[in-house]
Amino acid sequence: MIKKQFIQELMDKCEKEGEISAEVYGWVWRERGSAQVKFVVLRDNTNVLQCVIEKAKIGDEKFSIADKIQVETAMKIVGKIRKEPRAPSGYEVNASSFEVIGEAVNYPITKDFSTEFLLDNRHLWVRSRRMIAILKIRSTVFGAIHEYFRTNDFFEHHSPCFTANAAEGGSTLFKVDYFGKPMFLTQTWQLYAEAVVYALEKIYCIAPSFRAERSKTSRHLTEYWHAEMEMAWCEFDDILKHGEGLIKHVFKRVLEKNLPELELLKRDVSKLKKVVEKPFIRMTYDDALKILKEKCKMDVPWGKDLRTIEEDELTKQFDVPLMVTNYPKIIKAFYMKEDASNPSTVLGVDFLAPDGYGEVIGGSQREENQEKIEERLRDQGEKPELYGWYMDLRKYGSVPHGGFGLGVERIISWVCGLDNIKDAIAFPRTMLRYTP
Ligand code: 4AD
Ligand code: MG
Repeated sequence: MIKKQFIQELMDKCEKEGEISAEVYGWVWRERGSAQVKFVVLRDNTNVLQCVIEKAKIGDEKFSIADKIQVETAMKIVGKIRKEPRAPSGYEVNASSFEVIGEAVNYPITKDFSTEFLLDNRHLWVRSRRMIAILKIRSTVFGAIHEYFRTNDFFEHHSPCFTANAAEGGSTLFKVDYFGKPMFLTQTWQLYAEAVVYALEKIYCIAPSFRAERSKTSRHLTEYWHAEMEMAWCEFDDILKHGEGLIKHVFKRVLEKNLPELELLKRDVSKLKKVVEKPFIRMTYDDALKILKEKCKMDVPWGKDLRTIEEDELTKQFDVPLMVTNYPKIIKAFYMKEDASNPSTVLGVDFLAPDGYGEVIGGSQREENQEKIEERLRDQGEKPELYGWYMDLRKYGSVPHGGFGLGVERIISWVCGLDNIKDAIAFPRTMLRYTP
């Protein structure tokens, strides 16, 4: 690897030592020039740095090359760095020499662009300072999820992506041709995880899940990264405790590592601090309906799932996530355990984020009773016989267990304050967007 120092390192060194000699490697983020002097602002993954190339210093011939340098050219610039308050990042290099490493001509992304144009050019737009900031935060989020589970003694386990049956309902399944037989892309690792908790007891995974979502909303992708956990010997409160613990840990790490990125994205960090510091609010579905009726003048009939507008109005009443439990059995997945003290509801929970970021976690205690599972499957128009191996798990040493799934892009959208989930991933997949 070329031994290069990052722009931020060079600026930090200059801050301590005063003027220093340096080699700067990067891409041209901005450029402008006159007959005598060319300004290029280089960017790398840490920051930007203004470089000044003077004709008088480098000679006519070399300056004619500098004069033609365009945005996104890859360059090496050698010179002295010093403080320059008028430069974009407060420092400037005065070039004694430079080298064009990769030419760029007529970079298609100029200042005026539409959202669709940027999505069509996502392979190039990932270089924007905004996308760099988001992708760095994304990396922190993934690291923090692994860290949370590993420090809490969870093993990493992986389930297959090709599956023979539905877990989250048939309507969002992607069917694939598997050597002439129909198979589906997985919606969740969960059913296989329920097998492996009998071996490893506490497990987690971060992997893509697939949902054939026809909804064109700012919260839905067809391929999203799903962080899931499953525990044997689990009690319902453990699911809530780990869901809250995980979100708090992720936000804490982003606040520690990504303040410059949050600033670039103009994210109000006081909102993120509240998520770390204040306890989340637990309420039942019935409580939620009551608040919606009394405070938001929205009358949701019992047994109906909360729609986006209802979730939004409900969460607007609070500045921390809500953990809504005890949804009606009829609107939730077949595997969710009935609440013995309120059998028309399930021991399931949705974590609803504030500011319109919606459901970020869905989880539940799992039903252990095989007959009940079969009945629920039949009620949902499914064939229990297709779930053969899954039923075995209830026959051989079944124990209380449960878990949850967190939509990683939903958390990234929320922590970054994004308008649309498509910006939370480098190459988004939605019903209408599958390229680049
Ligand atoms: O609520 P869901 O459907 O739950 C499950 O899949 C369970 N099997 C998880 C488990 O218990 N192991 O999905 C979990 C989370 C949602 O709360 C949401 O954050 C995210 O996955 N999610 C999506 N994110 C982006 N695009 C989509 N289309 C999503 N669908 C669900
Ligand atoms: Mg859900």
